[in-house]
Amino acid sequence: MTTPTVAPTDHSSAGQDDALPVLRTVADLRAQVAAWRAEGRTVALVPTMGALHDGHLALVRRARELADRVVASVFVNPTQFAPHEDFDRYPRDEAGDSAKLLSAGCDALYAPTARGMYPEGFATAISVGGPSEGLCGTFRPQMFGGVALVVTKLFLQALPDVAVFGEKDYQQLMVIRRFTRDLDIPVRVEGLPTVREADGLALSSRNAYLGADERARAPELNRALTAAAAALAGGADPDATLTRVRGRIAEAGFGDIDYVELRDAETLAPVTRVERPARLLAAAWLGKARLIDNVPVLPA
Ligand code: PAJ
Repeated sequence: MTTPTVAPTDHSSAGQDDALPVLRTVADLRAQVAAWRAEGRTVALVPTMGALHDGHLALVRRARELADRVVASVFVNPTQFAPHEDFDRYPRDEAGDSAKLLSAGCDALYAPTARGMYPEGFATAISVGGPSEGLCGTFRPQMFGGVALVVTKLFLQALPDVAVFGEKDYQQLMVIRRFTRDLDIPVRVEGLPTVREADGLALSSRNAYLGADERARAPELNRALTAAAAALAGGADPDATLTRVRGRIAEAGFGDIDYVELRDAETLAPVTRVERPARLLAAAWLGKARLIDNVPVLPA
């Protein structure tokens, strides 16, 4: 094993002025985690693609509650983007991310290179069925395979006790739970409710693509879903309720509506009546931004 480029974090003297250790290679990450393990510490991992906002930082704070040490990864994962998608223009700001992670109580940043993650000759894929099917799986068919691949690699590289993900990407969370269980990966997967702006818009790195006028319209997605969830919990007809959501967001100026669907909260199987906890999920375009959101729906 190579020597880590940075010394393990010493919390007895750590203060806000210290820089966050940045680990670039699997060897450095493993050395850091091994140093924590040698001190008897538990470890949490928070995977991200950077351009961090308060939603990501809430995951770091939750991770701090669940483990003694927290490592966040920042890696814009090429395998989960299709060629026509926004990989090249996805916002990147490592210095800003590092400062935010430090202030949220993170202990180390893992920022591998694309070559390090996918070396010459890389030839492995992971295919997940079940919760990957439909919803975003239909409109971004490459996405969950890429997410499964990179998250599996991150899990095996760091071998954390626990990893924290947001319900903002609810289908992704269910896919990650599924393959972690299916592949016997010994990592506990924790979900955190969506962090929102005061007007209900879910925080997202892609909100940076919204112009001022679009930003003013964007909260209607969450308002429509929240109203529909309340109606469904009160026994409203699902078909009519979903049609009303589509109408509301179209009226608010959204363009293409990829989907508005009611699914079982655990398996993500389509449901036509709310007899168990369900989830109402939607994806729609507003200008150049594809917004996704989801809300819980409880049986009456
Ligand atoms: P990214 O979009 O950067 O999101 C990283 C994590 O932050 C995910 O678990 C996501 O659900 C969570 N998150 C984003 N916005 C949130 C919000 N408003 N409230 C709560 N949590 C929020 O999701 C990815 O990256 C990637 O697919 C990844 C899992 C890192 C694999 O590449």
